[in-house]
Amino acid sequence: MTKNTYKEALAHPIFELIATSSKELGIESYVIGGYVRDFLLNRGKGMDIDIVAVGSGIELAQKTASLLSHKPKVQIFKTYGTAMLRAYDREIEFVGARRESYSEESRNPEVASGTLQDDQNRRDFTINALALSLNQDDYGQLLDPFGGIEDLKRKIIRTPLNPDITYSDDPLRMLRAVRFASQLNFKIERESLQAISKNRDRIKIISKERIVDELHKILRSPKPSIGFGLLHQTGLLKIILPELTALEGIDEIEGQRHKDNFWHTLEVVDNIAENTDDLWLRWAALLHDIGKAPTKKFDSKVGWTFHGHEFVGSKMVYKLFKRLRMPLNEKMKYVQKLVLMSSRPIVLAQEVTDSAVRRLIFDAGDHIEDLMTLCEADITTKNPRRFKKYHNNFKLVRRKMKEVEERDHVRNFQPPISGEEIMEIFNIRPSREIGIIKDAIKEAILEGEIPNEYEPARKYMLEKGRELGLEPVKE
Ligand code: CTP
Repeated sequence: MTKNTYKEALAHPIFELIATSSKELGIESYVIGGYVRDFLLNRGKGMDIDIVAVGSGIELAQKTASLLSHKPKVQIFKTYGTAMLRAYDREIEFVGARRESYSEESRNPEVASGTLQDDQNRRDFTINALALSLNQDDYGQLLDPFGGIEDLKRKIIRTPLNPDITYSDDPLRMLRAVRFASQLNFKIERESLQAISKNRDRIKIISKERIVDELHKILRSPKPSIGFGLLHQTGLLKIILPELTALEGIDEIEGQRHKDNFWHTLEVVDNIAENTDDLWLRWAALLHDIGKAPTKKFDSKVGWTFHGHEFVGSKMVYKLFKRLRMPLNEKMKYVQKLVLMSSRPIVLAQEVTDSAVRRLIFDAGDHIEDLMTLCEADITTKNPRRFKKYHNNFKLVRRKMKEVEERDHVRNFQPPISGEEIMEIFNIRPSREIGIIKDAIKEAILEGEIPNEYEPARKYMLEKGRELGLEPVKE
């Protein structure tokens, strides 16, 4: 076992307090898990700190809290034998070292107290089992029984014990393995990968919320295709997001092929990850083509078609969010809207007219920028000439958008004439005609027949009113 000391990892004042508390209680304690891993990876110290006490974690938390001047509240989770307190903007979790044994049906283990080594054995990965001593004799010493340091250097995800048992005990770890590989750009060791494939069906005992949490982390990683590729390779993706695996494959009829929309989607997600950290925009990129699987058809005149895939896809977003128990809120509507509109700028780029640009801005509203970012990420052609051409087309669309918006202000469109004014001018009560006139004014503005200004709109309203047999009582 390595005998390195990392006192600099313990510079934060909380560690000294925990050390003093442990000493007073006559127990040993260690920092373990993500904090140590991220320190050694130079990933900036994470906010959360996990402490293992060889004794009662709850008592250690209480003692530590009593030494802090702000006397923080200690949250106790009796069933898990853990306690949490907040200090210096950090969450600090305390747990008593333990041994665990699992049953088939659940990921809630039977727990008994144990040694530090027992506790390290029950952890998910060698890189997460690294512990730093907070004890007087060897303060700052790294305890690394499974070669976690070496794995950090070699960029490997590996379980401390037999992977088959580690993953079967707690199937969430299969997703964690993939997530860490994606976040850190690590490889999952071969035996682990095999064990994940073998145990993949056990993912079904994991709550949807936890699955989604990991999916979010994979999507937030610098190159999400690493994670989604691994989910696909291990067969987890087909269980969690079958809408995506349905996009895989290339069909050929009469010598005509379409692209593999699954691998294309992963490229789009990687592209967008370079331009935005927005989780929901990344979700939109992941789901933008899901409607292509159910709408795919071959037409001997035009080849492969995916008619209406944007509409079908946006409906599928709702079902997918619902199935994964994701909130059906504004974020979902945003993803739906981007999926629904995902081809609009592409179609428009073929012929950039003012009216088409106005309609695009009008329909996309505040999401227009994000929609353009999505469409640009959607360009995955390997042909450099086409790549350049498509990007130039979008540059033109963006330029035109700026010009049109500066002039016509159709983003967050406010009708220049209100319903009240129409009623007053024609002396009519609320009726169908008002809607017709308002709509006609909006259409005329979008088509560029009249500018988005009061006087021309008023004139147009009078014309439309007359066509409907209405006479103004004042002009
Ligand atoms: N752990 C585990 N099995 C799990 C979850 C967690 O063995 N299913 C252990 C790992 O040792 C992990 C520690 O508990 O390092 C803390 O878990 P958590 O806070 O969820 O993750 P971190 O490793 O801290 O990483 P992150 O904050 O990025 O999630």
